[in-house]
Amino acid sequence: MIQPYDDEADLNPATGTHLREVIASRVSRRSVLTGGAALAAGFFSSGLLAPAARAAAPRAAKKGLLGFTPIPLSRGDEVAVPPGYSARAFIPWGTPLLGDYPDFVPGANTADEQAQQVGAHHDGMHYFALHHGRKGSTHGLLVLNHEYVDEGYLQTGTLTVPPASGWTPEMVRKSQNAHGVSVVEIKESGGDWEVVRGRYNRRITANTPMTFAGPATGHRLLRTATDPAGTTPLGTFNNCAHGYTPWGTYLTCEENFNGYFRLDPGAYTAEQAANQGRYGIGGDRNRWATNDPRFVVTPTDPNEPNRFGWVVEVDPFDPHSTPVKRTALGRVKHEGATVHVSKGGRVVVYLGDDQVNEYLYKFVSAGNWKDLLREQGKSPLDEGTLYVAKVNDDGTGQWLPLVHGSGPLTAANGFADQGDVLVKTRLAATALGATPMDRPEWTAVDPITGTAYLTLTNNTSSAKVLSAANPRKPNVWGHILGWNEAGGDHAATSFRWELFLVAGQGRGSGDGSTIADSDAFGSPDGLWADPDGRLWIQTDGSQPSGANDQMLAADPGVRDAHGAPEVRRFFTGVTNGEVTGVVCTPDQRTMFVNIQHPGEGGGSTWPRLDGITTPRSATVVITKDDGGVIGS
Ligand code: FEO
Ligand code: CA
Ligand code: CA
Repeated sequence: MIQPYDDEADLNPATGTHLREVIASRVSRRSVLTGGAALAAGFFSSGLLAPAARAAAPRAAKKGLLGFTPIPLSRGDEVAVPPGYSARAFIPWGTPLLGDYPDFVPGANTADEQAQQVGAHHDGMHYFALHHGRKGSTHGLLVLNHEYVDEGYLQTGTLTVPPASGWTPEMVRKSQNAHGVSVVEIKESGGDWEVVRGRYNRRITANTPMTFAGPATGHRLLRTATDPAGTTPLGTFNNCAHGYTPWGTYLTCEENFNGYFRLDPGAYTAEQAANQGRYGIGGDRNRWATNDPRFVVTPTDPNEPNRFGWVVEVDPFDPHSTPVKRTALGRVKHEGATVHVSKGGRVVVYLGDDQVNEYLYKFVSAGNWKDLLREQGKSPLDEGTLYVAKVNDDGTGQWLPLVHGSGPLTAANGFADQGDVLVKTRLAATALGATPMDRPEWTAVDPITGTAYLTLTNNTSSAKVLSAANPRKPNVWGHILGWNEAGGDHAATSFRWELFLVAGQGRGSGDGSTIADSDAFGSPDGLWADPDGRLWIQTDGSQPSGANDQMLAADPGVRDAHGAPEVRRFFTGVTNGEVTGVVCTPDQRTMFVNIQHPGEGGGSTWPRLDGITTPRSATVVITKDDGGVIGS
């Protein structure tokens, strides 16, 4: 239920009825973020490779991946899992994490205390093992995004949002400190997971010093009064989904950054106005502009919003490392950044831009990532090509390169250099003729077959553009696209796609859905392919019969008589809470799933830990009672 006022607005002037025709390195052992031979070698020898580093040769899918009994839709204020599984809440918002380890006190913690606690609104998440083998599945780093906050619960512990007239600098800082990312060292003992008060724990907030890297670094559109070089942005916020790299770093993605700024009226250039309009800058939704001038946009200092909308790389193993905004991956409302290693060791990053009628992107590194990182000391995420998808009605598709000088991306059209193309990614993609999609959210790649997937959560805008890949208008329930890259090479520039499934109330309802009535769901958002190829689908938004958000598993290798993949409901969430973020330990015996914004608008006291009834986002730890693989 994410900020419907902006991701459901059509800001794409190319899509018809909506005429918002926009008025127009360090190289050292200490950081993997900037490359360097010694350090990458260290990562290899430590064996901390993520599953994505495995060979990607397509193999036959294993069949019969789903072994659990599906559960019904739910409406209660407690999570549910299938018979034979257990679930418990873990690291809720406010959990003491570092420094003085301040206890959570609803509405009463200071801004400084919030910076020492787990943030709010858990979202995308990854688990990084700290050891080889079995031990690595009992001790690791859980790294998670904190997308946004509900200011009532944050500032008062209740639904009541204090009056704007009394908004203080302390309140702004508390809100900023509840955003960002947490790195949490966790350990299992006796079947229970606990937070380790160790050296890895870290909070990254809206004020953490960062750097830019890649082609747009220092670009004129990234320069501000306080950073005239355009190289050192502060902080990250509205971090939605995520990714992780084979060299052991975490990618956090800036989504609805636009609404945190106040856009003051004035004489903006046509370029500035076009850029602001296409990204929907303005609103001051969390009142940061009341007491932090960085969030006030004026004609004399207009560029701060251009420093957000990026993918940010974090080294979770070094709490002192400086996060890096990777400009080569473009500036959009980044939903996630799914990394896949393709032929020749090139890294491919799939990227959704979550807004109605926006696009699907991918980045392809210029070469083998190990060569780039180890031998040349370069980040594979700085050297490469960004593409946007053209999804044709005949089942084919092309990846169109966002490269300055090619096609319409020239100075005559407002793109004087590659920095222009990247800061104004949406505008460049429209110029290329990309295909408008129904809110591109998470992506996943099946590690067994190589098939890629994209959730298209819904699109009820009157400006929705119908196409074969976006076949319902309005699209209330959403769907999932699947595609195979030409030759099985994720770096390829063409692909073939299909509608993997169309969500809704089920085939019997006549709403166009392709799934069985018993598997009804809507608004697919979170998506993850586990190491066996189970596809985990999480929802965010209205569900059939007004039920709670949920998580289902699909087996792409098993089709029913109607050609639909097998789907089973595995997990149901709580009242007014979204289900988002999912990962397992390497042994697949422990799963972590996030509940975000329980009780948004009221109705929940979950997770009710320590007698606290203020609803709190939290991670849910799921295990199988017989110790088996989750989902099997
Ligand atoms: Fe933050 Fe598109 O969900
Ligand atoms: Ca999401
Ligand atoms: Ca969503």
